[in-house]
Amino acid sequence: MAKLAHAQWSSKMTFVLAAAGSAVGLGNIWRFSYMVGDSGGAAFVLVYLACVALVGLPILVAEWMIGRRGQKNPINTMAELAANHGKSPAWALVGISGVLAAFLILSFYSVIGGWSLNYTLSSVIGTFNGQDADSIGELFGGMLESPATLLLWHTAFMVLVVGIVARGVTKGLESAARLMMPALIVLMLVLVGYGVASGYFGEALAFMFRPDWSALTGGVVLAAMGQAFFTLSLGMGIMMAYGSYLGEDVNLISTARTVIILDTAIALLAGLAIFPIVFANGLSAGEGPGLIFVTLPLAFGNMAGGTILGLMFFLLLTFAALTSAISLLEPVVETLEERTSLSRIGSTLASGIAVWLLGVAALLSFNVWSEVLFFGLNIFDLLDTFTSKILLPLTGLGAIVFVGWCLKRESTEAELGLSATGVNVWNILARYVAPAGVIVVFVAGLI
Ligand code: PFF
Repeated sequence: MAKLAHAQWSSKMTFVLAAAGSAVGLGNIWRFSYMVGDSGGAAFVLVYLACVALVGLPILVAEWMIGRRGQKNPINTMAELAANHGKSPAWALVGISGVLAAFLILSFYSVIGGWSLNYTLSSVIGTFNGQDADSIGELFGGMLESPATLLLWHTAFMVLVVGIVARGVTKGLESAARLMMPALIVLMLVLVGYGVASGYFGEALAFMFRPDWSALTGGVVLAAMGQAFFTLSLGMGIMMAYGSYLGEDVNLISTARTVIILDTAIALLAGLAIFPIVFANGLSAGEGPGLIFVTLPLAFGNMAGGTILGLMFFLLLTFAALTSAISLLEPVVETLEERTSLSRIGSTLASGIAVWLLGVAALLSFNVWSEVLFFGLNIFDLLDTFTSKILLPLTGLGAIVFVGWCLKRESTEAELGLSATGVNVWNILARYVAPAGVIVVFVAGLI
């Protein structure tokens, strides 16, 4: 849409904040820690770090390049760039699958955002004070068993997201991120300090960084790559859309490095905060999606000043989830707005309601529909698995292959501002290393 062609980020800082606002979210704290716990620890972490560096960085840069070249929404950008380079219109599929992935992810993301909202309120009223591991576990289990509670909080979260997107006030949130992001980091550091004091920090460190390679299966490698895509908001057309607002003066590679380092640091801090609590209390690292909700309240409920720290933590987590969720809804809304006769508000409401409905199906899979399985997975796990392990890697692969093989060398040079040698190195990464990485992991994970 024309709207995208025009405006530009006022400064590099604003852009970094917006991209980090999308990247840093539940994926770094909730999803990262439970995936590490589920997948046996360090082997997963190390593969994840390799994926972030070798696949995530080039694909992030590629998505921004496409966005900045195309200056439109992801679907039109891909169609137009393909046409300009004499390539098949089928390249628009990369944009389409990105928008579809964003839609699917937001549905279950909102359910977890709802948990975070619920826990913010519980912190305020001191629900966790003095509780032991069993009662914290029961509180969490009670929430999962109650469709009404999950529905209430999922709805509240979606109303917030739709309200913000419909009113177009996302810019205000980005400036708020300037304060919230450092605050989140400080709180994570406090929690890591608590972990050090617990005496179980060494075990947590070993769990996260001393690999038992025998735990490494094709499935774990694919899960690690899926996490890299999820956490960096890749393969959803989001970074492409952001790239379309990007001024020519912004250096894509160094900006990508900044966003990736920030995103990865927050995830690693989350792990270092959570696993000491797991080991100190004899909890299971493989607890699943509830991991942070049964570990952190335990810490907050039993530390000095825990009520206020717990409140701040869940508030910041909810805020981080909101900025990510907004970035997930935007491409869906923009696509509807452009391709139908719906207004901005109408498109936001229509996509919000559709996402909300799918989210209801996802939340029922924790209780009444727990036995409704597809390929052995409940609806929540199916949505997560299908997007992170299939749609995101394939969409990201499309983006990097397009940039590596279809974009003219002059365009690459102009976009990256690299010397001839630099462009050659980039070409090796974009043409071979990143695509081969995605394909190998993908095939290994599926067989
Ligand atoms: N990257 C976000 C997170 O780690 O929580 C989640 C997310 C946001 C995923 C936006 C995808 C996306 F397009």
